[in-house]
Amino acid sequence: MSRIVISGASGDLGRRVTALLANADSRHELTLVTRTPDKLARRTPHEVTVRHGDYEDPDSLDSAYEGGDVLFLISGLNLGRRIPEHRNAIAAARRVGIRHIVYTSVGGVNPGNPALSAKDHYQTELDLRGSGTNYTIMRNSLYSEIVSKILVAPAAATGVITQATGTGFLAPVAKNDVARCAAACLLTPDRHAGAVYEITGAELLDFDTIARIASSVYGVPITYEEVTADQRLAFFDSVGIPRTYDPNMPPSPDGHMWASDELVSAEVAVAEGYQAVLSHHVKLITGREPESLQSVMERVKDTRYDELGAAVS
Ligand SMILES: NC(=O)c1ccc[n+]([C@@H]2O[C@H](COP(=O)([O-])OP(=O)(O)OC[C@H]3O[C@@H](n4cnc5c(N)ncnc54)[C@H](OP(=O)(O)O)[C@@H]3O)[C@@H](O)[C@H]2O)c1
Repeated sequence: MSRIVISGASGDLGRRVTALLANADSRHELTLVTRTPDKLARRTPHEVTVRHGDYEDPDSLDSAYEGGDVLFLISGLNLGRRIPEHRNAIAAARRVGIRHIVYTSVGGVNPGNPALSAKDHYQTELDLRGSGTNYTIMRNSLYSEIVSKILVAPAAATGVITQATGTGFLAPVAKNDVARCAAACLLTPDRHAGAVYEITGAELLDFDTIARIASSVYGVPITYEEVTADQRLAFFDSVGIPRTYDPNMPPSPDGHMWASDELVSAEVAVAEGYQAVLSHHVKLITGREPESLQSVMERVKDTRYDELGAAVS
């Protein structure tokens, strides 16, 4: 029987994939890896193994991944430090004999992409390709939940979505669609060996169109205002969002830790066309059409971002 290891299991995506695998028909065992096993163990069925593992601590990863066949390597959050963290995870997976790694990369990976997050993922993709392990890369578009709750929801009060995204396009994807794709790749890794998937939503949208969707969901006029990257950074400074990520920084009111250099560089990447990627990979992998942004926006309208994580079917 195959053992699937989910690394980064306590986060939103990890919890959704765990739920799907726990309810899947096929026979497999599950190990959940997190820096906070006590928290996760309290809400996990007893037949699932929960272990401590920190991407910054290679020894912890050897013990955490031991006995695993397939690893879901959920990328960390610590911009800049993630490259060595992911290298630690890949090396530990090699040492303990894991034969396949499914990795959460990001849409628009390309050496010229100005998004700071894409630079880390670009390097980890190279590291995976050179690792000698079978792999599947999931280049996930911007989550529709982030568009809905972080970018759009505040505009229901102000009437304006202000971004440095120019006239660029993106195809936001629902986290449930990402989770279903990940579960499928983990359950039948041989079918997905060497694949680089662009996990996108149903449609390419610019922010004028996203503002129109938001108007219809919230029932108030909402427009898109294009600003420069410097204006965006100044705005984030004014509301106390730190410029750079620090693992010890306080979370924002939505419960997440955001740094403005990452956020603004991602907007510039949209403006420069790096996120204008639309694929049929969600349908190819899951057999289902991806959920539209409008549908996600309506579904999550009344829920805080950090309380989303609903059941996936
Ligand atoms: N496509 C997008 O729009 C988008 C947006 C934001 C983030 N992401 C990426 O997608 C990933 C999954 O998304 P999500 O919504 O599930 O994020 P999330 O809820 O913030 O979860 C992040 C996970 O990363 C794990 N992690 C962070 N640092 C770690 C470390 N040093 N060692 C071990 N685990 C570590 C955390 O594990 P523990 O705390 O349990 O150790 C947590 O489970 C994120 O981690 C991020 O890399 C994608």
